[in-house]
Amino acid sequence: MSDRYAVIGNPIEQSKSPLIHTAFAQVMGQVIHYTKLLAPLDGFAAAVDAFRASGGRGMNVTAPFKLDAFAYATDLAPSAQMAGAVNAMKFEGDKVYAENFDGVGLVRDVVHNLQCPLKGRRVLILGAGGATRGALLPLLAEHPAELVIVNRTVAKAQELAALAQQHQSGQVPVVGLGYEAVQGVFDVVLNASSSSLSAELPPLPASVFRPGCLAYDLTYGKGLTPFLKLAQQAGVTHLADGVGMLAEQAAEAFAWWRGVRPDTAAVIQKLTVPLV
Ligand code: ATR
Repeated sequence: MSDRYAVIGNPIEQSKSPLIHTAFAQVMGQVIHYTKLLAPLDGFAAAVDAFRASGGRGMNVTAPFKLDAFAYATDLAPSAQMAGAVNAMKFEGDKVYAENFDGVGLVRDVVHNLQCPLKGRRVLILGAGGATRGALLPLLAEHPAELVIVNRTVAKAQELAALAQQHQSGQVPVVGLGYEAVQGVFDVVLNASSSSLSAELPPLPASVFRPGCLAYDLTYGKGLTPFLKLAQQAGVTHLADGVGMLAEQAAEAFAWWRGVRPDTAAVIQKLTVPLV
């Protein structure tokens, strides 16, 4: 029997993970069986217990269960600890190893796929929720000149900035601000707020975009979001959504489970929804 994996969420129909992992397995010559698992909102642990009992080897975790998975894990990787959330689990006997590959997937997409190095650059990230939390350490590992976190609720941005500073003893200046206080121009502007899910425009001044900068929306498949439109109207030509991040976090999970890392180019091409 082939090794079994699944993505768990509610809703789950929209998930691209089975398609991605099945494509990876095919290219890598691996035999796996990867399915979607819809769990009741109050039934995460029971669903995972049952999947493990039936021989499941690992899972991806999507909304709204990333915190449930955090609580369920027996061994949390630093990435999951820092994010406060789990997006991948590996089952070995009684052990539930847990990771969060979203941040590393984002950075790999920006630096490697989009060829936008972060070293020495000014980076602005919008939002101070789970998505930003998960991205902090991988972003700082690239040694940007500065990382600015901007959020409607300023205290949350300041909290995350303080957390980031603690974890890297201050080599990279990290500040948390409200939108009205953002100053100067940035080389990379990342929308990690959930504004695009409700087609809202974050209250970001259009002056933040440096000519030639990258504007990146972490959401996938929403076309030109209000954030990307703002960037486009400000003259930014390098626009991207989170399709590459989605593929890269999946490749990290695949490598963690299977010991071989697939190339993501074909999957990204297949899943790309044109922005315009
Ligand atoms: P996630 O886990 O996806 O990051 P979250 O933890 O609920 O989701 O966080 C959502 C983030 O998006 C928050 O930072 C939120 O800002 P507030 O903390 O001020 O609420 C931000 N957000 C949501 N809608 C927004 C909008 N229309 N404009 C700007 N920021 C928005």
